[in-house]
Amino acid sequence: MDIMNFWNDLPQPFFILAPMEDVTDVIFRHVIKQAAAPDVFFTEFTNATGWVHAGQKAIGGRLLKADDEYPLVAQIWGGEPGDMEKLATHCRDLGFHGIDINMGCPAKSAIKSGGSALIRKPDIAIASIAAAKTAGIPVSVKTRLGYTSVDEWSDWLTVLLQQDITNLTIHLRTKKEMSKVPAHFELIDDIVSLRDRIAPQTKLTINGDIADRQQGMKLWHDHSGIDGIMIGRGIFHNPFAFEINPRDHSREELLNVLNLHLDLFDAYNAEIPRRFDPLKRFFKIYVKDFPGAKEMREQLMQATTTDAVRTIINESSASLTSTS
Ligand SMILES: Cc1cc2nc3c(=O)[nH]c(=O)nc-3n(C[C@H](O)[C@H](O)[C@H](O)COP(=O)(O)O)c2cc1C
Repeated sequence: MDIMNFWNDLPQPFFILAPMEDVTDVIFRHVIKQAAAPDVFFTEFTNATGWVHAGQKAIGGRLLKADDEYPLVAQIWGGEPGDMEKLATHCRDLGFHGIDINMGCPAKSAIKSGGSALIRKPDIAIASIAAAKTAGIPVSVKTRLGYTSVDEWSDWLTVLLQQDITNLTIHLRTKKEMSKVPAHFELIDDIVSLRDRIAPQTKLTINGDIADRQQGMKLWHDHSGIDGIMIGRGIFHNPFAFEINPRDHSREELLNVLNLHLDLFDAYNAEIPRRFDPLKRFFKIYVKDFPGAKEMREQLMQATTTDAVRTIINESSASLTSTS
């Protein structure tokens, strides 16, 4: 059966906003789409077994999406292929355009059953991919180089590339390295050769320590054969990390992005009831690099509602106008 496969219609290289738990929900994806969009978005990861046993209650707003999101990949994880099959089918029915299986998360809670634990359980990894494929939408995998040692990369990635997946994203570190050492860019050419030999049809996406589109483009030029670049934490330093022609952004532009985030937070509040406090983590992404940003951030940290945040922004803008 031919399946719709957006991965075949992407530019070279394509850029992906990395899946990040408590960050890349429907709200933040829309903020970044408006600021400077990547080519592909992923959801935060959703646990298959949790969903199968406890349903919606177990997953909150993780799979909430909007009709204007394309292409959007649902990232799932777990250690029970049967549960992966059920959740993958549910994601297809929700209208996602692909399934990505997380085989790289190093968190203690994840490795009890899935995440990077699958690096040590290749049979389950293989069965999970086969199970997700039964949903009939493209299946990709995101993983690390190995569990304990960098030398594991060749055997582990061989296993994955033999499964005829659509895209393989590699966070260029081992599980043990967490994010404590620089990403192993020196392995990119060898990984490309392995992919070319085993699965030339599988797209290869590189991830880890890539700050923005410009650094991604340089890597792509320096290492021929990479198809995609995935950026995660870079977005915390620069909400415009995916922009094609980088430039300085004015205070007004940055605050407009913050206002959009606030509006979306309120708009989705009914569907995903959220606490206000975690929203504060995002303020420093937007409120920086302009005179008075530090003072404004200090005030924002005292706010307890989105309206209080808006008042701080408006008063600060009004005082700027009156002194100029
Ligand atoms: C706050 C946070 C949450 C994350 N959640 C996920 C997740 O749900 N799924 C996943 O595959 N990786 C997750 N990651 C890992 C990132 O997707 C990415 O692989 C990692 O941050 C390295 O890329 P970077 O250097 O561009 O940030 C998370 C990372 C961070 C910082």
